[in-house]
Amino acid sequence: MTSAITASSLTKRYGRVRAVDAVSFDIQPGEIVGFLGPNGAGKTTTLRMLAGLVRPSTGSCSLLGSPVPGAGLREVGTMIEEPSFYPYLTGRGNLRHAAILHGGVPESRIDEVLGFVRMERAADKKVRAYSQGMRQRLALARALLWRPRVLLLDEPTNGLDPAGIAEVREALRTVAAEGVTVLVSSHILAEIEKLVERILAIDRGVLRYDGPLHGLLEAAGAGGVEYDIEATDGPALVAALERIGYAPVARGERGASVAIPSNQAAGLLARLGAEGVEVIEARRATATLEEAYLKLVGAEGRPS
Ligand SMILES: Nc1ncnc2c1ncn2[C@@H]1O[C@H](COP(=O)(O)OP(=O)(O)OP(=O)(O)O)[C@@H](O)[C@H]1O
Ligand SMILES: [Mg+2]
Repeated sequence: MTSAITASSLTKRYGRVRAVDAVSFDIQPGEIVGFLGPNGAGKTTTLRMLAGLVRPSTGSCSLLGSPVPGAGLREVGTMIEEPSFYPYLTGRGNLRHAAILHGGVPESRIDEVLGFVRMERAADKKVRAYSQGMRQRLALARALLWRPRVLLLDEPTNGLDPAGIAEVREALRTVAAEGVTVLVSSHILAEIEKLVERILAIDRGVLRYDGPLHGLLEAAGAGGVEYDIEATDGPALVAALERIGYAPVARGERGASVAIPSNQAAGLLARLGAEGVEVIEARRATATLEEAYLKLVGAEGRPS
């Protein structure tokens, strides 16, 4: 099967800054992938290169099997940078204009995409009077106008309220169910974790993670998943963990924290039992995907 989106050692330098540094990934048709990273990580620059807006310093990318820039771009819908519209035209007028430029978009499709982003009521207002959220929705409608097979979206939920975020998520889910490939960037994992199954996490130009959403927990705990364990007798717990070969940190009278390789987690309670320790509770200390992601991109405690 031809990949929908491919990046091969994609690199963009601005002077001394490596905005994107040898990034490679491969996205299959119909996948919906979240592109995460803190401010300045290189998300927009990567999307710009994929969309043929800036040229890579080295490396290459392709869309639907054809090198960028090339024929693949005709089947791509993008929402990158500040969406710009003619302020003196209505939302519908702007879509009509885009439809004419692109060619082959029937009038009925305009109503369809307006409905899709819940913009039926605002469609006949001038864009000058739009809120940021309305502009975002109109930009998404425009990106969908010619039924693209690939969507490149840079923070499409920027400026939307929680209801708007949920609506965009729903719209993207519907689009993806029709087989459209979606690459969508965000700062915030929580905004896209309900939408995507795969994550690309980038930090300072370097791809730190490419894999399933839930694999983030394992990846962030490489070399050990942190557990908080509580037992009837804290010192006995610590002594037993040390005998087994771990380096626990005592927590209060009854507890300890310990990092253990994830493939040993299942057997841990049994081994503690065999050592005569009565465990009351054991839980993963890396509680959320968001924490795992922040650990992975090194954004914990970094001034923003
Ligand atoms: N045209 C440019 N000229 C010089 N440096 C640039 C240019 N565009 C981006 N950069 C630099 O490249 C790096 C990556 O920027 P980019 O906009 O791709 O990050 P981002 O992940 O989209 O960040 P944000 O979350 O803030 O949107 C930053 O250090 C930025 O300052
Ligand atoms: Mg950006």
